[in-house]
Amino acid sequence: MARYLVTSALPYANGPLHLGHLAGAYLPADIFVRFLRMKGEDVLYVCGTDEHGVPITLTAEKQGRTPREVVDEYHEMIRRDFEAFGISFDNFSRTSRPCHHEFAQKVFLDLLAAGYIVERPLSQLHCPSCNRFLPDRYVQGTCPRCGKPGARGDQCESCGSWLEALELQQPICAICGATPGPRETRHWFLKLDMFQDWLRGWLSSREGWRDNVLNYCRGWLDEGLQERAITRDIEWGVPVPLPGAEGKVLYVWFEALLGYVSSTRECLEKRGSGAAWTDYWKNPDCRLVHFIGKDNIVFHAIIEPAILHGLGDYILPWNIPANEFLNIGGQKQSTSRGTAVWMRDYLGRFPADPMRYALTINAPEGRDTEFTWGEFRIRNNELADVLGNFVNRTVSFAAREFEGTIPSSGSPGDAEAALSARARETAVEIDTLISQFRIKAALMSAMSLAREANRYFDSSEPWKTARTDRAKCAGTMAMCLQMVDWLRLAFTPFLPFSAARIREMVPSSADDMESMGTETVAAGTRLGKTAILFEKLDEGFERVFEKAAPDGKASAPPKAKAPERPEGLVSFDYFMKLDLRAGVILSAEPVEGADKLLKLMVDTGDPAPRQVVAGIRKHYDLSSLPGRRVVVVCNLEPAKLRGVDSNGMLLASDGVNGVLLVEPAVSAVPGDRVR
Ligand code: 2FM
Ligand code: ZN
Repeated sequence: MARYLVTSALPYANGPLHLGHLAGAYLPADIFVRFLRMKGEDVLYVCGTDEHGVPITLTAEKQGRTPREVVDEYHEMIRRDFEAFGISFDNFSRTSRPCHHEFAQKVFLDLLAAGYIVERPLSQLHCPSCNRFLPDRYVQGTCPRCGKPGARGDQCESCGSWLEALELQQPICAICGATPGPRETRHWFLKLDMFQDWLRGWLSSREGWRDNVLNYCRGWLDEGLQERAITRDIEWGVPVPLPGAEGKVLYVWFEALLGYVSSTRECLEKRGSGAAWTDYWKNPDCRLVHFIGKDNIVFHAIIEPAILHGLGDYILPWNIPANEFLNIGGQKQSTSRGTAVWMRDYLGRFPADPMRYALTINAPEGRDTEFTWGEFRIRNNELADVLGNFVNRTVSFAAREFEGTIPSSGSPGDAEAALSARARETAVEIDTLISQFRIKAALMSAMSLAREANRYFDSSEPWKTARTDRAKCAGTMAMCLQMVDWLRLAFTPFLPFSAARIREMVPSSADDMESMGTETVAAGTRLGKTAILFEKLDEGFERVFEKAAPDGKASAPPKAKAPERPEGLVSFDYFMKLDLRAGVILSAEPVEGADKLLKLMVDTGDPAPRQVVAGIRKHYDLSSLPGRRVVVVCNLEPAKLRGVDSNGMLLASDGVNGVLLVEPAVSAVPGDRVR
């Protein structure tokens, strides 16, 4: 039996994660891992936050906080979002932990001793007014390749080229805007050129790798690998472990890649056998699989293999299923440009599984794909119509006609035998496809089994045989309930939350897909309470997300009329009398007899929820409101609206796009003062 070590790219702890992250490196990995676990394979899935480097220090400087404050906040936020989406890491570490620092420093020293790292003088951009060196994104300028402005010292996002800061035209300091100039310093370099021939041979012998990965690497090798500086002049990071190197840290990419190893070590230490990490990283039978987005290919397919090969006795990646991008409105989702849909914004409103479904069925496996809320609604409803409907009609029919127990099947006919065979084939197909990292096709295979199940229900017409032939009806329903369980197995890696809910309705002890097509539910078993698996959405729901504007049409900025403002000014003190607070809607219900009003319970940081009546019934779907973040005027005089007490008011804008609730920043918590 093979052993698997699966990783997802370590996200920078400098902001919340968006759906593009989820679709690229986490969701497919989680599905792959859940599938392997179901098969009983030996698998470890590790990740963690990437907490060093310029992306962190720059965020900290822009927010006027320390890097430590930034990474502490976002590590926790990211960890919780992953958990809520069901991403089932065995360990989620942090590169700022001492265990990682020690390991990265040791690797640096080992490669130095082996001659793969050398120290060299280097000219670097230095800002005269900040009096410091400007590594990577601390410099901005015009890209020397495509001529577009806004390129950063490490990369141009417009054309994708990787750059050296000194190549930028019209460079400016990203902190103060001054023009930096070159200044001599010393740095350590990884001699990638020494790995050129070995890498070409190794890469050309990879089988089953995606073309995008191999083509990208070929491009790099054809250009010829150069030495790359792997140290930087900043204070936040893993210190270079050498005398005389004060103020210098390891380049974030060099050490972050080693984070996969330190997360594995930490995981096994927690499980009580610290030395066992070598059973993965130094075990030739262990398959190392890196799930990443395409912008990380060079690091995982060239730099990491070079480092591991240089160290000598480590395994190399077995596969790197890199995904393309999930775009929004034709643009890459970008934290810095604000073109992203945050995982937490979604989770505040909807359950995880419909999004897991929509992102997988539209996965950017071979090409970039486009996310729109319209597409999400269609996919959600498809899931409700196909899987949700079959489970629901089956369980509720059995509850009604067979007193909530599984009837006995009698002797199965041709239709039943064909359906069982189809279930077995589906299990084999899903296995083959997931093993080839064709996660989207595997999900389509599971869906097609669910469609087949609906057809069987329709053509068997149990609602008729219930009156005319009870034995036949029992046989049909026994088959359908069995099918519900097989579908649960087929969907478990993709929709883990729904699978658990299905099992509550139709109890079963089966846990592996190999059981599909065999008897896994027993006649006489009591069924659980029928529950709706997926709520269907109508078009109105899209308004909830319009602010994020993933649909092309919604993203066009509306041309608003000049607002009419009152003439009178108010003093600062007058304004400060308002008690404005961040809040979260806990529940929403209509106010009887009022077509515009909703009664909301809102958490505004007080010991008890606050009841507010708001005139937003025409503008928001009821189901979209719980979990939504709002700004509440808490010291408005209490009022009674249609006989219902209201103790506050929600802030909303009212313009050409209709009434839109004002949202506080993502990280604001209920009770935070707004002013
Ligand atoms: O692109 C990124 O978000 C990086 N933080 C990915 C690092 S992956 C690995 F090196 F850990
Ligand atoms: Zn400056």
